[in-house]
Amino acid sequence: MNTASLGVNGNTEILAAARALIESETNLIANLANIAALLYHRVPEVNWVGFYLWEARSGEWVLGPFMGKPACTRIRPQRGVVGTALAVGQTLAVRDVHEFLGHIACDPDSRSEVVVPIWSEGRVVAGLDVDSPQVGRFPSQDVELLELVAEGLGASWNRCHGY
Ligand code: SME
Repeated sequence: MNTASLGVNGNTEILAAARALIESETNLIANLANIAALLYHRVPEVNWVGFYLWEARSGEWVLGPFMGKPACTRIRPQRGVVGTALAVGQTLAVRDVHEFLGHIACDPDSRSEVVVPIWSEGRVVAGLDVDSPQVGRFPSQDVELLELVAEGLGASWNRCHGY
């Protein structure tokens, strides 16, 4: 795949590291935990990176592996940035969360946020959520990095097991 559009700020290397982690393990929790840690430590100026997973029993998005401060454990469909992005199945990049009606403030330091749906077999099974304390922190090449990482996780979803 041509990753030239990821830019020169190390995103190509981060994507390669993410793919190597995903390819080498079939435990879903381990992979999500490692991807959260990788992005948290390698993407500059982020204060929270993690996952919300669909829980069919409750019909809610439930907190999964993450790095950052403790966060809201359950998000109802169409609530907040997470519920909105995952309901429509499209990436949502919010330049300033203070201007997003219904934003759920888990960490008051967060000022911009990206949520990327993770698709498996035609449905959204989870979301990758990344927060930054900077307004407008996520240019298109960083959004693309997160989308490619989410795509890799989605492609691996069915060969992975829970724990
Ligand atoms: N801000 C999110 C909630 C999750 S936290 O950012 C970790 C939202 O509005 O859905």
